[in-house]
Amino acid sequence: MNAKLRLSAVFVKYMCTFAVIMEALEAMLTRRSVRAYTDEMPPRELIDKVVEAGMYAPTGKNTQSPTIVVVTNRALRDELSRLNAEVIGKDFDPFYGAPCIIIVLADRNCNRSHGTYINDGSLVLGNMMNAAHALGLGSCWIHRARQIFASERGQELLRQWGIEGDIEGIGHLALGYAAKEPAPASPRKEGYVRYVE
Ligand SMILES: Cc1cc2nc3c(=O)[nH]c(=O)nc-3n(C[C@H](O)[C@H](O)[C@H](O)COP(=O)(O)O)c2cc1C
Repeated sequence: MNAKLRLSAVFVKYMCTFAVIMEALEAMLTRRSVRAYTDEMPPRELIDKVVEAGMYAPTGKNTQSPTIVVVTNRALRDELSRLNAEVIGKDFDPFYGAPCIIIVLADRNCNRSHGTYINDGSLVLGNMMNAAHALGLGSCWIHRARQIFASERGQELLRQWGIEGDIEGIGHLALGYAAKEPAPASPRKEGYVRYVE
């Protein structure tokens, strides 16, 4: 390759990298929690991409302490919704109608000496939320996974799914197509960041 061609190749590579970085930043800044979903199940390819983004989140000492469970079965999704609502003594769908629920669990013993399993699972959820948005899907972190997977029924589900270890529920990701525009981001609090130079 002559010098001119080599230079153009470097330029194209630089511009592509820049474009990817911009897309990632755009996704992070414009993602919002979606709290109303249509019934439409996202195609498996898109769900897989969201999950893959979660799998590549960093974990303490690279222990990969989380486990991801993708629930697309309607009966199980509805049961998880009931269990979740029960934790706070309410009668509503805490998943806001989302057809797909991605559960993030983590093994407390995986990196006990470092104790990063909650951080690890949270980063998985963060990656998945940003990836979902980048792919045109809506998502929302739904909490109370810890209580559900500490319960008798939760433990039974873990056994059914063949998940062993000292497991804690970190969170659920409600995933689907937004039925309405999510609320805009609230203003960032005063003093959120300090630069020490
Ligand atoms: C740890 C955690 C738990 C959350 N639990 C819930 C929840 O149970 N239900 C819900 O509707 N939103 C939940 N959210 C979403 C937050 O309410 C939401 O991120 C916040 O209001 C900011 O809005 P945004 O995501 O649109 O920026 C949770 C978020 C986090 C990080």
